[in-house]
Amino acid sequence: MARIGFYPGSFDPITYGHLDIIARSARIVDKLVIGIGTHPGKKALLSSDERLSLIATACKPVTEHTGLRISAVPFDGLAVDAAKAAQASVIIRGLRDATDFDYEVQMAQMNGALAPELETVFLAASPATRMIASSLVRQIAGMGGDTSLFLPAESRAAVEKALKQLKS
Ligand code: COA
Repeated sequence: MARIGFYPGSFDPITYGHLDIIARSARIVDKLVIGIGTHPGKKALLSSDERLSLIATACKPVTEHTGLRISAVPFDGLAVDAAKAAQASVIIRGLRDATDFDYEVQMAQMNGALAPELETVFLAASPATRMIASSLVRQIAGMGGDTSLFLPAESRAAVEKALKQLKS
């Protein structure tokens, strides 16, 4: 039976950090459903549709290289409910540092209490991408900095367009 993973996040926008985790999850799952969720404390720059489309484009080369089947869905409610709807048995999350660790372990334990049938698997972020954060990348783009080290071309263009619209 195919093992399905659920990778929830804000993806505002998808970065090379997320792509690192997505590509490496091919070693763990046969199919990955990427869930675009809502963090109650974050105000999104990109719409859910834009984020979906960027994820679809950015993930094509991953599928070509790894064979991992990838789809993306938006969700409004709990991550565990979206994971169950996707028929996933594991939730995948990336860990960058000790700050992530504390937050992520608590979230995994809360999710585990809500849905004991789901296992959270953490992948340590690769050294080349572990400093990336979508909010910092948006800040750099907003100040005219080069984000090509952090974002695929389509994400870069979408962020620049959205920031321009905000300013006009
Ligand atoms: N490499 C580099 N950067 C990474 C990364 C990696 N491997 N993984 C994550 N990031 C960055 C992201 O860019 C993001 O940066 P930002 O904070 O500057 O925007 C940050 O790390 C964390 O974002 P993300 O992984 O997208 O998660 P999140 O903290 O925004 O959480 C949800 C989003 C949707 C997963 C979470 O809010 C959720 O589960 N919501 C549903 C409600 C729910 O179930 N609540 C109960 C939880 S117990």
